[in-house]
Amino acid sequence: MTDLTHALIAAADRGYRDVAAAVEEAGLRNVAAALINEIFFRAHLDELAAVEGAGESSLVITLTHGSRETSVLVSVGPKGVEIGRAARPTDIPPTTIVQDVCETALALYGPRERVSSASREIRWPGPRTMVPRLVNGPAVPRLFHAVVQRVVHVLERGRPAPLAELAVRHGTDKWSFLHQYTQHYQRHFGPLRDRPVKICEIGVGGYGDTEAGGGSLSMWKEFFPRGLVYGLDIADKRALDRPRITTIQADQSDPEALRSMAEKFGPFDIFIDDGSHMSPHVITSFETLFPYLAKDGIYAIEDLHGSYWPQLFEGSEDDLNAPEFTVGFLKQMVDGLNHEEFLKSETRVAKSTDRSIKGIHFYHNLAFIDKGRNEEGGPIASVLREAPEILGVEGLR
Ligand SMILES: C[S@@+](CC[C@H](N)C(=O)[O-])C[C@H]1O[C@@H](n2cnc3c(N)ncnc32)[C@H](O)[C@@H]1O
Repeated sequence: MTDLTHALIAAADRGYRDVAAAVEEAGLRNVAAALINEIFFRAHLDELAAVEGAGESSLVITLTHGSRETSVLVSVGPKGVEIGRAARPTDIPPTTIVQDVCETALALYGPRERVSSASREIRWPGPRTMVPRLVNGPAVPRLFHAVVQRVVHVLERGRPAPLAELAVRHGTDKWSFLHQYTQHYQRHFGPLRDRPVKICEIGVGGYGDTEAGGGSLSMWKEFFPRGLVYGLDIADKRALDRPRITTIQADQSDPEALRSMAEKFGPFDIFIDDGSHMSPHVITSFETLFPYLAKDGIYAIEDLHGSYWPQLFEGSEDDLNAPEFTVGFLKQMVDGLNHEEFLKSETRVAKSTDRSIKGIHFYHNLAFIDKGRNEEGGPIASVLREAPEILGVEGLR
């Protein structure tokens, strides 16, 4: 399903004809299964199921392609979300949402301006159910409308949830008593939200437990509806692979392993380092992966406190500018932003990234590095270096 999902995202970026070709190639049933999986991931029907006393309700989603169609029945109630079973008692038949499969794929994976509901039809169960008081019909459970509304909201790509809400929902500590990172991610990643980004996070979570972790990967999957999410961890996390989520087992201190991962899956629009937090690992990962960052990509490094703590992450606060520790390493890049402004060649050894980092942002324990051309020129510095007398240097002070 992962390959098919990747193919659908690429086709949806190009338009309806390409999606239709993908449906022909993969088959309506397979495409519908992939789309319905995505709809259920985004709709969080399990949250409705957990509401006490809300009753039980069922829904059919029918996806059509020309004269063909395929359907899935889902029930939501005290037992959770069950695919292929109608709600009991059965005196309220399910509502059916019918939509063209290509339009559905574009709504889920295409650019926002391609979201449309032109072919959608909602088939409600009928007057006996819908106006029960008039005809002495069965009482409509509270879940009845909520389930339909959640799915329609997904199909309309309705108001997206803020990242902090997604962090709590998916169980990552990026918004918790430990960290308050989501406000910063929201600001830096928000403008990319509707793009078909590729994002790679070092550190899946759950450490040696191969079935645990993955909270931030599913948070990013929901935050970037068209995104492909990759998670790298020293432990085997394949059990957490899902459509649009791929895990890779590798040690972030091993440049060869990082390179082979990036050659296979990159380039990436975003890297996040939330792995070991040991300075040599963080620095090796940055130096190896930065070339695989897209030309306007963002590299984020979390938990900078690891740079200072000898007890936990072999850090040090003896020399806050020491470049072998993460924060000192990043501070050097701040001078790199101004590489064109130095008057003496011996002041600083040039770094290979000086010309390709255009911004650095620091927050409590979190840094963002913006890739981009940093060669605006330093016209005044050039004159000061070569012919200061023509500027009347005294007058510039
Ligand atoms: C803090 S957890 C990641 C949490 C996750 N990003 C989240 O927000 O939900 C750190 C993870 O880094 C992994 N890790 C530790 N050392 C590593 C290394 N050298 N290379 C790759 N991953 C490592 C651990 O196995 C652990 O699962």
